[in-house]
Amino acid sequence: MDRIRIRGGNKLNGSIEISGAKNAALPLMIVSLLTPETLTLHNVPRLVDVLRLQKILGNHGVDIMTAGKRAGQAATAGETLRISAKTIVDTTAPYDLVSKMRASFWVLGPLIARCGEAKVSLPGGCAIGTRPVDMHLLAMEKLGAVCDIENGYVIARAKKGLKGGHIAFSKVSVGATHAALMAAVLADGDTIIENAATEPEIGDVAECLVKMGAKIEGIHSRTLKITGVTSLHGAEHTVIPDRIETGTYAMAVGMAGGDVTLRGARADTLDNVVLTMQRAGIAVDKTNEGLRIRRNGSGILPVDVTTDPFPGFPTDLQAQFMGLMTMAQGTSHIRETIFENRFMHVQELARLGADIHLHGDMAEVRGVRKLTGADVMATDLRASVSLVIAGLAAEGETMLHRVYHLDRGFEALEEKLSACGADVTRISG
Ligand code: UD1
Repeated sequence: MDRIRIRGGNKLNGSIEISGAKNAALPLMIVSLLTPETLTLHNVPRLVDVLRLQKILGNHGVDIMTAGKRAGQAATAGETLRISAKTIVDTTAPYDLVSKMRASFWVLGPLIARCGEAKVSLPGGCAIGTRPVDMHLLAMEKLGAVCDIENGYVIARAKKGLKGGHIAFSKVSVGATHAALMAAVLADGDTIIENAATEPEIGDVAECLVKMGAKIEGIHSRTLKITGVTSLHGAEHTVIPDRIETGTYAMAVGMAGGDVTLRGARADTLDNVVLTMQRAGIAVDKTNEGLRIRRNGSGILPVDVTTDPFPGFPTDLQAQFMGLMTMAQGTSHIRETIFENRFMHVQELARLGADIHLHGDMAEVRGVRKLTGADVMATDLRASVSLVIAGLAAEGETMLHRVYHLDRGFEALEEKLSACGADVTRISG
């Protein structure tokens, strides 16, 4: 199993190209199930989760052509996928594929919408809480599907097709909003989705659906109005830059110090994070190229944050921010309100010398003057990268084990950090 070795103490200087957003690329690939024509996606990140989803879609009969890397293209340049779901040969998404990645459960909506039936294994993914799917099923039922759970599978049927309906979510869920949207675009009649998630990745998917002929009003707002159409056609779409990767590298620079431009980063998807970083004493400036992050000489200030649905502080940056706060000049409080078990990085950060106390859903982080390198274990995707951030400032050598978590969501992490002067090496085997 691969490991990543970090020798701390180097400042970061230079620039990092931000990849396409994993959390947009995955649902966009799933959208391809809604049309027999070809959907061309540009700027798809090269990630294990993308490869996994290719396999899952392949199982349904979807053909995916990948354009090879062109001469002179950077190792980090995104891929172009040409995805064609001409014929759906199988409406079952089996356990061994779905259990490895939660987002693959989202094939449920498009499969029912296009084929009138679907059998999809209950999902797996990062172990950061119970992560139920009740809201996904509610959305399908409001659109006229009948859903049963048998032997670990959701079996959904809408033999006469889906009908428009009124879906009012009791809380904000990214996945359930994707599911409802993807199913409603082909339902007969009008659908209203209330309390929809407004994460930029939802907007990206909705904009792609519109290019394919879907009728959606209220994109980027809490209420989506969809007028169903009988079919969708092919389209071409570029995946938005990854705001979580952007925030992660911003926090890495904040931690290590230095001056790095995050090329292609979109500040408008990160307002809350930018403000939080600035309050922590880190200079964040919008430039023509993206976002410039600087910390030279000054210390890190403690800032309290609470995770919230967009436009709040993202839960997917909570672990990284905690990594940064471990060396703040004082105590910060980090409250996690989205997932109930998302503090698994705390005990690993403690191995590096961090002083963190958990009180229910709140972590009290008492800044320390120094961290020291140690062996640490990645427990989930975002937690793993918080350990890299801490390792960049720790004295000596930090060895991160179970790197496969990281490979699910961060493209060429070692290359990107090393190019800015970090001493980060992957050790294979
Ligand atoms: C997505 C993101 C993940 C991010 C999360 C929150 C992708 C591939 N993943 O995950 O990176 O951390 O949004 O921003 O985009 N819930 C229910 N019932 C449901 C569905 C969700 O109770 O049927 C709850 C969850 O347990 C959680 C909350 O709703 O407490 C939000 O989860 P949700 O937004 O659905 O997360 P995901 O879509 O799984």
